[in-house]
Amino acid sequence: MDKILVLDFGGQYNLLIARRVRAMHVYAEILPGGTTPIEKIKEGGYRGVIFTGGPNSVYDPASPHCDPAILSLGIPILGICYGHQLLAYLAGGRISPAGGGSEYGKTDLYVDDSELFDGVPEASSCFMSHTDQVVGLPDGFMTIAHTDNCPCAAMCDGRRELYGVQFHPEVTHTAYGGTILRNFVFNICGCHAGWVMDDFIESSVDRYRRELVGKRVLLALSGGVDSSVAAVLLHRAIGNRLFCVFVDHGLLRKDEGDRVQRALGGKLGVNIFRVNAEERFLDKLKGVDEPEKKRKIIGEEFVRVFEDEKRKIGNVEYLAQGTIYPDVVESGKGDSATIKSHHNVGGLPKDMEFEGVIEPLRDLFKDEVREVGEKLGIPRDLVRRQPFPGPGLAVRIIGEITKEKLELLREADAIFREELDREGHSAGCAQYFAVLTDTRSVGVMGDARTYGYTVALRAVETDDFMTAAWARIPYDVLERASSRITNEIKGITRVVYDITSKPPATVEWE
Ligand code: XMP
Repeated sequence: MDKILVLDFGGQYNLLIARRVRAMHVYAEILPGGTTPIEKIKEGGYRGVIFTGGPNSVYDPASPHCDPAILSLGIPILGICYGHQLLAYLAGGRISPAGGGSEYGKTDLYVDDSELFDGVPEASSCFMSHTDQVVGLPDGFMTIAHTDNCPCAAMCDGRRELYGVQFHPEVTHTAYGGTILRNFVFNICGCHAGWVMDDFIESSVDRYRRELVGKRVLLALSGGVDSSVAAVLLHRAIGNRLFCVFVDHGLLRKDEGDRVQRALGGKLGVNIFRVNAEERFLDKLKGVDEPEKKRKIIGEEFVRVFEDEKRKIGNVEYLAQGTIYPDVVESGKGDSATIKSHHNVGGLPKDMEFEGVIEPLRDLFKDEVREVGEKLGIPRDLVRRQPFPGPGLAVRIIGEITKEKLELLREADAIFREELDREGHSAGCAQYFAVLTDTRSVGVMGDARTYGYTVALRAVETDDFMTAAWARIPYDVLERASSRITNEIKGITRVVYDITSKPPATVEWE
């Protein structure tokens, strides 16, 4: 299988670069740019390397540099933004702050004839975000693109197949970014598109079947997409030697726990031990209204329940987790050890006795995990669900959590989701849910005065959850949701729509 290495120099679009490459069915791996030894790169068998962007200046002593020997490995390189400057610097070029100051945003780009720009018109637009730029080309390089402010918007050394672009081909604002990346991956590196999920499933199942002969594995099932897919994949490999502990903390959405259990435990036959721990969690959360304290209590209690179940099941050698690639990269563990410290299951303590940890999805992005899930037969609506925070509805109830409030919120949330899903209005929303505020207000029903809670509806559009825009959903959807919530749920008298973006707000209210 052909592979591309993405060397990470700290830019904000690094995961996006790897995703773009994988979307072309070529496997892309991310490793830290400043610390990965050259031997590891040599042994990796990569067909090409991409240097990512980053916030630094190459002359800054603290800036990450890779071994210059990488230029002589005979592997094609594409440097992007900081990666472009670093490539120039390592090859002996000069970098300096741009004459007209920083260049940021959509910019007109003019390209010359080059294999990298095959199919890219002479004039198009690109996305720029830089302060420094290449001012002295290294020997053997030539300029192959410019903008009004940046004389060297791209460069290449065709003989050594080294390319650099000052702009960001991985973001959609660069009109022909996809073409440029495809040219690099297929025409310059000569990759074949062979990375498909069927192969991933088959090879993983095969591998765990061989490696886990006679072993018992415990998996903490949160009810979310990642741990569900990991469970079904491992079940296919080792059958009933996989024990899934589903800690239902009572903070799930309406019917969610039952649906997960039915879907995985039913036809798919996964061995599920569901622990109805609602009382335990509510007891611990009694009187607590501070968001971080809620999170901490839930995390700790999760561990306690899990430990109790582990003890009951007894004799398990391995712990399985639904860690996915962004978790691995974001926690700075970009090397591919299969056994590592626990970091994903509600922060399980290090002293929990296991021979090792299994993370079958640690090389996959979320979209890929969903694809694997569907191929494994998990119902589409379950696999395509919007993300749901680990602490569940606890961070969507402002103030103290009670059973009564949970019931109100579950119903309101279900109605809002149903109304937004109707006729596909939720298609562009990455997350949409209801929040139970701590505010009560006066209403009127029939001729009587009512006094009940205010529910806030939240719907956001985002790709990465780092920033988000509030969704412009149609008024009539809001009206239907509001009218149903206040009519059908006794105890809610008012509905408001949250029109705050992130930043300054966050997606969740707590
Ligand atoms: P915020 O509220 O930080 O949310 O804008 C960004 C994304 O993260 C999710 N989120 C969490 N997920 N545990 C989780 O597993 C948490 O404590 C948590 N807090 C927020 C949130 O739902 C959104 O998708």
